Amino acid sequence: MSRIVYVNGQFLPEEEAKISIFDRGFLFADGVYEVSTIIDGKLVDNAAHLARLERSMYELGMTPPCSNEEIEAIQQEMLKRNEVEEGGLYLQVTRGAADRDFAYPSGAKSSLIMFTQARPVLDTKGARDGISVILQEDIRWQRRDIKTVGLLPASMAKQAALDAGADDAWMVEEGYITEGTSNNAHIITNDDVLVTRALSNKILHGITRKAVLELAGEMGLKIEERSFTPMEAKQAKEAFVTSASTFVTPVVKIDDSPVGEGNPGPLGARLREIYIDFARKSLS
Ligand code: PDD
Repeated sequence: MSRIVYVNGQFLPEEEAKISIFDRGFLFADGVYEVSTIIDGKLVDNAAHLARLERSMYELGMTPPCSNEEIEAIQQEMLKRNEVEEGGLYLQVTRGAADRDFAYPSGAKSSLIMFTQARPVLDTKGARDGISVILQEDIRWQRRDIKTVGLLPASMAKQAALDAGADDAWMVEEGYITEGTSNNAHIITNDDVLVTRALSNKILHGITRKAVLELAGEMGLKIEERSFTPMEAKQAKEAFVTSASTFVTPVVKIDDSPVGEGNPGPLGARLREIYIDFARKSLS
């Protein structure tokens, strides 16, 4: 069965959806996006994703295509039409179509598209067995806090990881880990401190990161928001990534070094459990 996708006011079978070749998302990566996860047929923490979408558009001087209430209504219609129980709902806003010019066009109308992707979220191999990462130089731009569709450096790092037989890459800049290719990176030290990079332009301000840090604090875990080195990560007791699509997923190997015993650790597992409880309560 073909998916129903949304393109600028229309719900269409995916084969019929069309975007202009002059769309600035296509020509300049002049677009922003969000991925909201679907469990039990509903969206996880979606209001936080829409708030970040608003910020991304604001930072780029992009006119929102419509209000957040209207976006939410379209998202709900997408859930209804596609009947996805578990997976993701992707949405993208670009500055729209205009004759090619580096300057922002004045008259362009922002474009909004959405599609669903069905995939397992709650019971994944990564959650069960953990994932391996390799370290890669972070060659991305300096506004990683804006969730733009300019994802080629992250895609290159991910592919390098797969080519090396690993699952993902953690990126390193000036001797410190920034984040994963599509997730935030965290470690737990040998004295049970959760260490995660502080928010800045160097990383995406993850919606899952925020919720997990709050939950970890409530759990009584000590938290340090600071940069950490590859060496510290390799010597950590546990490591994990957070993202809308992976929730909390343990990292059991960094380059050739097993993290801890090389198996998912208890604190990461507990954080995943309490995050899933939170996610269920946040459904809309
Ligand atoms: N990626 N860092 C980067 C570079 C990301 O691309 C993402 C999300 C995150 C985690 O953010 P959040 O918890 O808000 O999902 C961190 C999404 C899932 C993606 O591109 O598919």
